[in-house]
Amino acid sequence: MPIPVEHIIALVNRYLKTSDTRAWSRFDEFDWPNLHKTDEVRKLTDVQVAAVRTSLMIEDHIPGYATEYFRLFPVDASVSREDAWRNRNILHFVFQWCAEEDRHAHGFELYMRSSGRVDQEDLTREMVHEGMKKYTAPSDNFSMLFTYTMLQEKATQLYYQTLYQSVEEAPVLRALLKRLFQDEARHCSYFSDLVLLDLKTGGDVLVEKIKTALDAFAMPMADLLDNYKRQAITMIRAAKGYDHRSAFTQLDEIIKRYARAGSQSSTYAVEDFFTAVPNLSPA
Ligand SMILES: [Fe+2]
Ligand SMILES: [Fe+2]
Repeated sequence: MPIPVEHIIALVNRYLKTSDTRAWSRFDEFDWPNLHKTDEVRKLTDVQVAAVRTSLMIEDHIPGYATEYFRLFPVDASVSREDAWRNRNILHFVFQWCAEEDRHAHGFELYMRSSGRVDQEDLTREMVHEGMKKYTAPSDNFSMLFTYTMLQEKATQLYYQTLYQSVEEAPVLRALLKRLFQDEARHCSYFSDLVLLDLKTGGDVLVEKIKTALDAFAMPMADLLDNYKRQAITMIRAAKGYDHRSAFTQLDEIIKRYARAGSQSSTYAVEDFFTAVPNLSPA
């Protein structure tokens, strides 16, 4: 049974009420014209610059992510009137979420282009090249899709937080990363609340689906970006000087603990999982 539309409206409104007050300016909060003259961009290591570049490529695939959400939540005659109304309300969230993710991508792009540490044309070439790749959502099943997305939001938040803590001498990058990881934390909470609502309505039949989603979890773009493995290693190296492993290990352990619970997993155990993940943060 799908989530009653009034519950979705209440959740979406709660998200929008907060996000309407959390908007930040990608232009006014950062002195882009003078960034290239600062010590910060001289001190950043090549590995750190590469990590920001990879983060940009992942965020910048937002047109692809958005296309999939519009495919999955149609409001046209292909669905019933009830589903069209439910999807219309979900799309209030999707539009806002996409705007926030697009601001993340643009913020990273402005940082890279203003830093003087990249070849402008080469960056454009790579953005176009990566942007043209077709993204397919990890699942058309909503419970699974929201589970994947919640974990991706949390992993991204943890990564930005660890990178933030490891680039102490880069105040502009830190200010940008702080904005981003605060947004990612809100995104994670929203998707977690959505799965919890789904569980309240769907109960035990959803448990297996969620378990399958956890087993197959991967970051978005993992199979699309050129040399993703090398880029992922670079990202982890960039966060050195800080025990970046602890937060990811915790996330990994929570996922494994739940996956191990196997067929005995109850709705209650799943609820614990979706309550624990949003609360994770780097030590
Ligand atoms: Fe983001
Ligand atoms: Fe996000």
